[in-house]
Amino acid sequence: MCGIVGYIGERQAQPILLTSLGKLEYRGYDSCGIAVAAGNIKVHKDAGRVGELTKVIPQLGGTVGIGHTRWATHGEPSQVNAHPHLDCSGRIAVVHNGIINNFLLLKQQLIAEGHNFVSETDTEIIPHLIEKYYDGDLGKAVETALCDVEGSYAIIVLAAGESKLVVARKDSPLIIGLGDRENFIASDVPAILDYTNRVIYLEDGDVGVITLDSIKIRQEGVEVAREEHKILWSAEEAQKGGYEHFMLKEIHEQPKVIRNTIGEYVSAAEPVADLAIMADTNLEGMLILACGTSYHAALVGKYIVEDLVGILVRAELASEFNYYPQTLAGTGAIVITQSGETADTLKAMKRLKGVGCRVIAITNVVGSSASRIADHTVYTRAGPEISVAATKSFMAQLMALYWLALSYSRIDTRRLDSLTMGLRQLPSKVQQVLDNGDRIKECAKYLSRYENAFFTGRGISFPVALEGALKLKEISYIHAEGYAAGELKHGPFALLDKNTPVIAIVAQDNTYEAMLTNIKEVKARGSPVVALAEEGNETIRELADSVITVPPVDAIFSPVVNTVALQLLAYYTAKQRGCPIDFPRNLAKSVTVE
Ligand code: F6R
Repeated sequence: MCGIVGYIGERQAQPILLTSLGKLEYRGYDSCGIAVAAGNIKVHKDAGRVGELTKVIPQLGGTVGIGHTRWATHGEPSQVNAHPHLDCSGRIAVVHNGIINNFLLLKQQLIAEGHNFVSETDTEIIPHLIEKYYDGDLGKAVETALCDVEGSYAIIVLAAGESKLVVARKDSPLIIGLGDRENFIASDVPAILDYTNRVIYLEDGDVGVITLDSIKIRQEGVEVAREEHKILWSAEEAQKGGYEHFMLKEIHEQPKVIRNTIGEYVSAAEPVADLAIMADTNLEGMLILACGTSYHAALVGKYIVEDLVGILVRAELASEFNYYPQTLAGTGAIVITQSGETADTLKAMKRLKGVGCRVIAITNVVGSSASRIADHTVYTRAGPEISVAATKSFMAQLMALYWLALSYSRIDTRRLDSLTMGLRQLPSKVQQVLDNGDRIKECAKYLSRYENAFFTGRGISFPVALEGALKLKEISYIHAEGYAAGELKHGPFALLDKNTPVIAIVAQDNTYEAMLTNIKEVKARGSPVVALAEEGNETIRELADSVITVPPVDAIFSPVVNTVALQLLAYYTAKQRGCPIDFPRNLAKSVTVE
């Protein structure tokens, strides 16, 4: 999604803005641009990549500027729709993330007042509104302009002749990076990590006036103080570290991520979250909400919590939950979001809070919007995830769920001890899957020839099938559907033939026999079957055309090893097909619009 950056200091702004924009490329975008104040405002922008812009842009000069990577919502990717946008005089420039819902109305009013618009974007009304209210106090003009605006925004405003930047946020993240006689602004931490690890997270409703040596933040016209935070991960962690793609690096980081996330909890003096909601025996149920891959973690979480804690769990898509007539008022909810900024997830959290639910956020980003809205936050320790396709963050989410469920489990001591030991062995089990990469590569070569595939599983392996299909479709562009294995015969069988392989996830649990039956049914319809099964399972070899093995684990941990195998399968398939693995077409890392 869109990314924004700003710089004010004593250095040339242009190279810093371009470097910072390059660090936001992973979020997904289609156009980019920068504006620098050097006497007048100089703007360079176009559809395309930051690298292309960098090649053609002249030296702009100037030590204050703003930049943007745009992911098109209102209007196609083009030079005119790219940010920054200007007012009529060309003296006020704005970059914006978010969506202005009432922009059409405001645009009509501004046109009637004599303003000219050049783009199709919602953003362009912002510089014009600021121009309308500007009488020499830029901060005030921005505050007044934003009173007219309905929607979400993170903005940076640059004005000719002003040695300051004005920033504001509502429902879209924005941070200020603190330097020595220089300050940085960005929508996301990686943009500024080369320059500083000291940050301030702006809150919704904040308007800040930033100079090279001062930061003044106001909320509803009253000056407020915002705490300084230290970012614990380094710029190197956001590099490829010798791997061909971020995705491959992040898949290989998973043993460490498991260790870090579990280690955090094991060493905690207090329970990781005050889950009175789980301890409450009168509890009717609880909710777990999320989108995309995080939703698949939520579905696995349902099985884990129901099994270990013994309460009823509803796992729902946050994007759909927002339209449900009922919420389960009064119960507890867990919300899972890697970025902590997914618009639908944040909306669901606010809805839950509105009806009195206690909400726990599981998120990877310290200071993210989700962590601010939640009553309690459980941080995953995945480190920066750059590849658009989520891998290690999913793993860290599973670890958080295992640990939460084990902390509040109602199982006997023997099983608890055995599972706790099993949890600690997971890093080495995952390493064994990674070491099996060559075998998975062979299967990927085979899979890459097809245009359609099904992933099937039962029980706790059903969400794994959904995740395997999501990974394959998003990075290899093969049409893949995750399906409950027992449901294929209720319709999708019509699609099975020799050109539609089925990847069957076979866990050694109470679903095992039924899965074998389902595989036979699929084979009888002529579809090739790739089975994912435990080492040593000879029965599967006789049934399936191809087998990927994973090391034995307790069935409750099977999503861990199976998912890693499917991540590698998707990765190598996409590589075989020559796809842009880290930045798949049309996708964004952090989905900050509904
Ligand atoms: C898929 C993927 C997305 C995200 C989804 C939710 O690989 O990464 O499906 O899982 O956009 O994002 P978060 O977890 O940041 O809320």
